[in-house]
Amino acid sequence: MGARLLRGGGLVVFPTETVYGLGARAFDPKAARRVYRAKGRPADNPLIVHVASEEQLLCVVRRVTPLARRLMKAFWPGPLTLVLEKARELPPAVTAGHRTVAVRMPSHPAALALLRALGEPIAAPSANRSGRPSPTAAEHALKDLKGRVPLILDGGPCRKGLESTIVDARGRRPVLLRPGTITTQALARAAKSAVAAPGRRAPPAPGGRHRHYSPSCRVVLVSPSLLRRSTLPGLHPPSAGLVCRQDWNGSRPIFLKHLSGNVSAYARGLFAALREAESAGVKTLYVETVADRGVGRAVMDRLRRAALRDSGQ
Ligand code: TXA
Ligand code: MG
Repeated sequence: MGARLLRGGGLVVFPTETVYGLGARAFDPKAARRVYRAKGRPADNPLIVHVASEEQLLCVVRRVTPLARRLMKAFWPGPLTLVLEKARELPPAVTAGHRTVAVRMPSHPAALALLRALGEPIAAPSANRSGRPSPTAAEHALKDLKGRVPLILDGGPCRKGLESTIVDARGRRPVLLRPGTITTQALARAAKSAVAAPGRRAPPAPGGRHRHYSPSCRVVLVSPSLLRRSTLPGLHPPSAGLVCRQDWNGSRPIFLKHLSGNVSAYARGLFAALREAESAGVKTLYVETVADRGVGRAVMDRLRRAALRDSGQ
């Protein structure tokens, strides 16, 4: 059913281990444009292409660098996206006119099954309306895209809960474009090389420029040490909410989400918590920060953007 829809130029929401994707046949430029419309996504923000095999990979890239090989061997299938030079045949609508393509092999069985049934690569950004938190459950995609997509495949909650790590793998050193659950340390080990930060001429990962991952409420970040004092002046307003890892002993806000466990567990529950807070009518949401290292780096990247207060996209 999913593959048939894609073949006919339709869109399909499907689960991956990171977040849900809004898929279209990668070699169908009209379908790619439908993706931008359904998401309300600016046309200059390229899509990620998903593949299930080396054969599908070779259809979308011009060449696979030795660095990409090492990273693929270590992390595919899994939450790593590689930026490589694109194949000439890949429609510019998918890459927003860039000469590069972002490509990954997801590990979720439903995603792999869909790719295999179609027999071709699938272009898929996260299945949220542009600027909103990425969907980590089918209901989230339904909330954002109801009436805009004919099919949502429900694979339950996503195992990782944050979008893939994106690495420019065209050169000899990996360049980190978006932190994710694959850490810089793990990348460096697999690449046998230090990880570089993007230079000024790096390809844009436009998520970096605007407010993003944002629920409709205002997001305010609070440090663990501040929370330990159990008083937050701002928590007095009746419409305040709190997402935290530690126990909260202060006055009870209208929404309280306690995500206990390690930072990966926090990452897994975070986007769902932002959406729950919004549904609970929270106007100001306080979110506990984590140390900016390892998986925490990706968590803080998303939280800082959720808390930005420009108009976004
Ligand atoms: O985990 C994920 O990556 C999920 C699942 C569905 O695979 N997808 C996802 O897609 O997060 P999206 O579209 O929400 O984010 C893709 C990011 C954007 O920030 C985009 O700018 C960047 O990838 N990107 C895409 N093509 C690129 C390219 N050629 N060079 C640099 N960045 C690129
Ligand atoms: Mg996205």
